[in-house]
Amino acid sequence: RAVAAATQPLLGFQAVPASVADAIVVPPGYKAEVLIAWGDALFADAPAFSQSNDARAQARQFGDNNDGMSFFPLGPDRALLAVNNEYTNYEYLFADGGKVLSAEAVAKAQAAHGVSLVELVRIDGKWQANPRGALNRRITATTPMTLSGPAAGHALLKTHADPEGRTALGTFNNCANGQTPWGTYLTCEENFNGYFGSAGKPVLDQRAARYGLAAEDAGFGWHRFDERFDLAKHPNEPHRFGWVVEIDPHDPASTPKKRTALGRFKHENAAFTINKDGRAVVYLGDDERGEHIYRFVSKNKVAPGKDPANRDLLDEGTLYVARFEAKEGELKGTGQWLPLVHGQHGLTRENGFADQGEVLIFAREAATRLGATTMDRPEWVAVHPHRAEAYCTLTNNKNRGLKENQPLDGANPRAENPYGQIIRWRPAGGDHGSDSFEWDLFLLAGNPEVNKEGLMAGSANINPDNMFNSPDGIGFDEAGRLWIQTDGDYSNEKQFAGMGNNQMLCADPTSGEVRRFLTGPIACEITGLTFSPDWRTMFVGVQHPGEELAPSHFPDGGTAIPRSAVLRITRDDGGIIGA
Ligand code: FEO
Ligand code: CA
Ligand code: CA
Ligand code: CA
Repeated sequence: RAVAAATQPLLGFQAVPASVADAIVVPPGYKAEVLIAWGDALFADAPAFSQSNDARAQARQFGDNNDGMSFFPLGPDRALLAVNNEYTNYEYLFADGGKVLSAEAVAKAQAAHGVSLVELVRIDGKWQANPRGALNRRITATTPMTLSGPAAGHALLKTHADPEGRTALGTFNNCANGQTPWGTYLTCEENFNGYFGSAGKPVLDQRAARYGLAAEDAGFGWHRFDERFDLAKHPNEPHRFGWVVEIDPHDPASTPKKRTALGRFKHENAAFTINKDGRAVVYLGDDERGEHIYRFVSKNKVAPGKDPANRDLLDEGTLYVARFEAKEGELKGTGQWLPLVHGQHGLTRENGFADQGEVLIFAREAATRLGATTMDRPEWVAVHPHRAEAYCTLTNNKNRGLKENQPLDGANPRAENPYGQIIRWRPAGGDHGSDSFEWDLFLLAGNPEVNKEGLMAGSANINPDNMFNSPDGIGFDEAGRLWIQTDGDYSNEKQFAGMGNNQMLCADPTSGEVRRFLTGPIACEITGLTFSPDWRTMFVGVQHPGEELAPSHFPDGGTAIPRSAVLRITRDDGGIIGA
């Protein structure tokens, strides 16, 4: 029996072809159904979804643009799903497409952001959302949160409304996520800069510019109706965003904590693991062209189970940034984790870092000073469940080879990289706490039909039947299957011809085989994945179907406006997903 199990191939499903349909397609024998969608009620007093729902209604409904998510078991047939709500699409959020904004409109947008916590119940073997769940909760762009860790109370975090620099309001642009073994949820603040702006003349130095802060916002208009977001009036407010936030999902009255020890940047996800001597290791990507990959290692050891000793474990430890080295022409090599510690390696007062708080608030600048490698937009990191190995998606980078600080190198080997790659590293001694590692590229996405040879064709494990671009969400299941989600160019033309809509694939990390598992509807991104504890239900996110008014009516069909949604994926025979 053991022999049979050992020879069983890791990937057991039939590949699906690329698709341009406004539909979810999964392999034969699988079913994908909507679990919950933007605007669905989370409380008894919440109205049903309508585009005309106001801010008050939205704050009682499932948020928009669901992204990373985690499953928390509460019992054999009861669970809690924590889901990020990254942002909104004004073209659908408002009946007028956001043409005329108002304080009420901005309040609705703020209420659609953050995190949705929704209880699940298993009825007749199927996990379903419980709109009356006692632990259902909405966390939005205005929910009070504690700033904790080394930067808490720092002068740069103090504002008129919070002279102590210890209480921030809300979280937004929550991209991906993480989960701790002590039962908390980690939500990661990504492109926070786009919500700030000013009609006045804010003072924006190089440090502000490094985070993309500018008088002109990304078009959300928050600063026009909520002065907290006006950079000229509240220059320290953006320092209170760009953090990883820890949430206790089991206590709806708990105050989320922004863990400043994990650094301030455009956080993608927080991949949690434990090193050989029992400390917490959290791998972190900073998703911007030419930014870096980080690692946090806690000072103290993780106590078993839900021990309250873990409550503030993420407040003390060391943040590191990665440097990747390779011999000329090689796509593999060695690397180092460089510590972001005040007083060491030039992170000194003379160089603009008065203390550890300032190192963490301007982690990007500190990383540059240490000689960190500029990467092709680090998105998610995933840690292999059985081998000391971590994977990170580098989604694409049009600046590679063009900007002076982003030269071609072994880890980022393609100029103007349109397709992305997945890098992986193996820590020395099989210990995620080691400061050195070996790395290689698990795959280079590419188009072998358009590019007959060279690196743009993709690595050897990419072929016309599995090609895709812009890997983003990744995660392992217990068997060690690597699930890969895409957020790429879905034009299906030119260098992207034959790739179709955004999708999810599954890879065998040992053989390198990559097989397409799911294709999404028109103009969506596939992002966010988690499993039930028996690995027989998979939850997958469909984000911004029909963005920019592309012709999608997913999931309601007919003439309905499209909505982001979480899918429940099961097998008709009740088997393990992917096997
Ligand atoms: Fe929100 Fe980098 O993706
Ligand atoms: Ca992403
Ligand atoms: Ca992305
Ligand atoms: Ca996204």
